[in-house]
Amino acid sequence: DLDSLAYDPGITLPPRTRVYWRVSVWGDKGDFAQSEANWLETGKGNEKWDGEWISSPDPAIHPVLRKKIELEDDVESARIYATGFGVYELEINGVKAGDEFLAPGCNAYDKWLQVQTYDVTELLSKGENEILAWLGNGWAKGRFGLMMAENNYVDQFSLLFELRVTLKNGKEIVIGSDGSWESAPSPVKDSGIYDGERVDARVKLESWAPVKLLAPECGELSDRLSLPVKIMEEVKPIAIIDTPAGEKVLDMGQNMVGFVSFKPSEPEGAKLSLKYSEVLQEGNFYRDNLRSAIAEFHWISSGKKETARPRFTFFGFRYVLLEGFSDPKLEDFTGHVLYSEMERTGFLETSHKDANRLYQNVIWSQKGNFLDVPTDCPQRDERMGWTGDAQIFCETSAWNMDVYAFFSKYLHDLALEQGKHEGRVPHVVPDVRPRGSGFSGIGGGACGWADAAVVIPWTMYQFYGDKTILKRQYSSMKAWVDWIESEDKRAGNKGLWTTGVHFGDWLSLDSEGTSRFGGTEAAYLASAYYMQSARIVSETAKVLGCAEDAEKYAKLSERVRQALLSEYITPSGRLAIRSQTAHVIAIGMGIAPEHNERLAKDLGRILVRDGMKLTTGFLGTPLLCKVLSDTGAHAYALKLFFKEDLPGWLYEVKQGATTIWERWNSVLPDGSMSDTGMNSLNHYAYGSIADWMYRRLAGISPTAPGWRKARLEPLPCKELTYARASFNSPMGLYKLSWERKADGTITVEGEVPFGASAVLVINGEEQELNPGTFAMDLAPFAQKLDPGSIPLGVLMADPKAGPILLQIAPFLKECPENIIQLGIREFQREAGALAIFGKIDYDAIIGMIAKALE
Ligand code: BGC
Repeated sequence: DLDSLAYDPGITLPPRTRVYWRVSVWGDKGDFAQSEANWLETGKGNEKWDGEWISSPDPAIHPVLRKKIELEDDVESARIYATGFGVYELEINGVKAGDEFLAPGCNAYDKWLQVQTYDVTELLSKGENEILAWLGNGWAKGRFGLMMAENNYVDQFSLLFELRVTLKNGKEIVIGSDGSWESAPSPVKDSGIYDGERVDARVKLESWAPVKLLAPECGELSDRLSLPVKIMEEVKPIAIIDTPAGEKVLDMGQNMVGFVSFKPSEPEGAKLSLKYSEVLQEGNFYRDNLRSAIAEFHWISSGKKETARPRFTFFGFRYVLLEGFSDPKLEDFTGHVLYSEMERTGFLETSHKDANRLYQNVIWSQKGNFLDVPTDCPQRDERMGWTGDAQIFCETSAWNMDVYAFFSKYLHDLALEQGKHEGRVPHVVPDVRPRGSGFSGIGGGACGWADAAVVIPWTMYQFYGDKTILKRQYSSMKAWVDWIESEDKRAGNKGLWTTGVHFGDWLSLDSEGTSRFGGTEAAYLASAYYMQSARIVSETAKVLGCAEDAEKYAKLSERVRQALLSEYITPSGRLAIRSQTAHVIAIGMGIAPEHNERLAKDLGRILVRDGMKLTTGFLGTPLLCKVLSDTGAHAYALKLFFKEDLPGWLYEVKQGATTIWERWNSVLPDGSMSDTGMNSLNHYAYGSIADWMYRRLAGISPTAPGWRKARLEPLPCKELTYARASFNSPMGLYKLSWERKADGTITVEGEVPFGASAVLVINGEEQELNPGTFAMDLAPFAQKLDPGSIPLGVLMADPKAGPILLQIAPFLKECPENIIQLGIREFQREAGALAIFGKIDYDAIIGMIAKALE
């Protein structure tokens, strides 16, 4: 039957065909509605090509390939089907075909290659037409990947092309790439994802020579799965800075990904360059954190007024060092923001300026790192599809934008790469590695990273309600869990995952010394993910109606859970690993739901022990505030979230960040970079906090796949006077806002889409909401903490209450954990009479602290 979330009409469409569709709805009472007509167009499918792979006869140059054609009549319609290596750009009669950049995109080229379709009806006309294909290095051919090798997939530039024209007179013409094409040296002298581009605009396209025919070097050709990478926004620079070192640096005002274009008015032969960076140091241009990535654009002027821009690269930057310009002006430069074409779906705003900026930073880090592949970072010599980062951030990304198609393509590659290793998922997808080296990639099978294979499809199903992604990924999901189980067997079948190399709670603040691997035992984290992934596969099997698998993986998950319990958790619920991350994982993943209360209490104690400072890394952070809010410690989550000094989310905002940083302390309080070894300023992992912001600052959460049901729970807090959010779900638009008026009353407003159902929760009381809008005024309520019950350790860590408390009771500094976990009243009851603490007026202290916390 029909389902408004996902419907498979069960038809196979013919190739190269435009299909129109609309939706009609008849209501029970005779209502009728009809959508606008929409269309989609199929590609070549498995059809045979009327074209061959062609290349330049000179492998040492960047080539431009050309074909001239004569059309005897006007054009009714025209399509180009094309693909190429490394990256290509088509131009017809001097105009770029389509608005896509960096085609054919980045994927496991040895397995499959994506074909793009271009509607070029408007670009061709009666008479002579010139078709050019510009070729550049890109991901497949240039220097790319952790091994820093070149030509990972191919040695030569190449193009496969087919033009199909229908003329007004009814004639059909097919032009394929073949031996009649020509090749000439390109004005592009060099290009690379990491290293930028060199263009000599003086080079004229001449010295044409016949092309060379090539044998294909790729896996199967396929209609594209990836979304096109486009210029999604433009940014005008805000200043040209004269630095202390005497240089001119363009400030875009925003850390962004893409490139800057300009129209040089310099004489012929003038050498201009743009060098890209994320941050200034002591006011000067600085880019050590890009490591070996050169990230420069060089342009030798032709003397003509023309737009200068790179074709085959992108940069992650806020600042651009300008060299060779005689008199650069702000208005000469435009920033172009490149990312995969995705629609914004979620919006959030609060009364807190810095929280809003943080939210915008998350959005910008998503834009910057959703450029065909979900990358760790967009600027240094990595820019790869790290599975862990994608796993951590996928849920947040699905709030912000429609990422279903984006992740469908990534997961397609993930499954293909996994196939090579009996189910083990590589650390990066595509698993870029030097060809023919016998080297099987940079490795894989790390907990929390490889689990992307199950977490991402499951999250997509939760957000979009479409089972297709589960069907497609099912064998990949199972293969991954089976692989872990084989490791478990190898290690003696204890139900734990104790083997392998893990990144663990990567970059957490509780690791030993300068280790990046985090302070929480790897085998614990690995086994927790093992349990969770087996459970997700079991749930997936249920959704797909595979009862046997559902039972098998549920049993496996329970076996792992029991093993975790006996290894790490005492019968009364004490966890052997005393870290924040170990506790949020235990609660968030449901290792011992029967002990959640105890675990939550202990998490609170640990936070107190840690001075109310978070220590979590990549695996703990996404769950930290969520778990606190879910276990009755929402006030603690707020405390961590609104903390303005190190470590915390708002610290980087206070430091002027415009994207999310890789480390909590990427930039130190004095403005200097903390470590040039690994310090990206545009890394989305810690941006996963936006998921909590939607759920807990604004109060919207999905409670059924595809947002058929939702929970709306405004939670007014003292840090905010209002919060509002909306989410354009597959069911339709959800909205919720709350605002505290001057008299303390709270206005709540919202909207539930047609066909969906929601519960509104006010102060713990639930009520059903019907689709449509709602609004109400409520008597004042807020999440309040009684200062008498706040643990002393929490108060000590508070910038306002701490100094007051410590002035009156300086001895607290020397008190052990079991004492500072107590609230003031408890302390008074238990120890207040002890002479060693002297005479203390408890009521007065509580009064002063309540005032300080107001
Ligand atoms: C990346 C990370 C990634 C990590 C794995 C780093 O170099 O930038 O984000 O997940 O390696 O250890």
